[in-house]
Amino acid sequence: MTYPRRMNQHAWDERYAGADLVWTAEANRFLVAEAADLPPGRAVDLAAGECRNAVWLAERGWEVDAVDFSAVGLDKGIRLAEHRGVATRVHPTVADLGDWSAPARYDLVLVAYLHLPRPARDRVFAAAATAVAPGGTLLVIGHDLSNLERGYGGPQDPAVLTTAPDLVPLLGDLDLVRADPVERPVTTPEGERVAIDHVLRAVRRA
Ligand SMILES: C[S@@+](CC[C@H](N)C(=O)[O-])C[C@H]1O[C@@H](n2cnc3c(N)ncnc32)[C@H](O)[C@@H]1O
Repeated sequence: MTYPRRMNQHAWDERYAGADLVWTAEANRFLVAEAADLPPGRAVDLAAGECRNAVWLAERGWEVDAVDFSAVGLDKGIRLAEHRGVATRVHPTVADLGDWSAPARYDLVLVAYLHLPRPARDRVFAAAATAVAPGGTLLVIGHDLSNLERGYGGPQDPAVLTTAPDLVPLLGDLDLVRADPVERPVTTPEGERVAIDHVLRAVRRA
């Protein structure tokens, strides 16, 4: 998938307007690896898009607030949740994350592939960290800055890309568990390629 340089709410709505899912219905592999053993509680999926990750969490018993500024994307997410029998546990909210502050504290705060320039990025990740409940987890998954030079696909604008360590100063009083680049194999018409993502995991002491 190719990326335009910057996408606003209208552009995301247009992108999600087709009948097919823009992304896969399968949860992100790093979410699955990091969250499979967490006991279910209350989660928020920031920039939930078509809710593939929110639906996977709901299937494991989580109550999930799914936040995104694309109502079109979230509508598709609701249909995916209905199809998978978990619509009662996925709660969509249309909101611009640039203005978002948490309405509650969450046992899991997930941010997957949200790529914003500063200062919006700093605001959103600081708000995400603040939203973690005592004993809870923040999980950030994104295209790594190094993907520009060495990886496949993803945004091509360096202003919206970071490394995981770049985000650590935004974590406030959370304890860092990991902040690493990770490789994600991608099947393309030209064969298998590798995208370089990052995973950041942090926790708030109980
Ligand atoms: C690459 S998609 C990722 C979707 C989902 N997290 C996933 O992994 O499938 C990025 C999402 O960020 C959302 N987004 C971008 N900027 C946003 C903002 N300022 N406020 C809320 N959502 C935003 C877009 O609408 C889009 O759904």
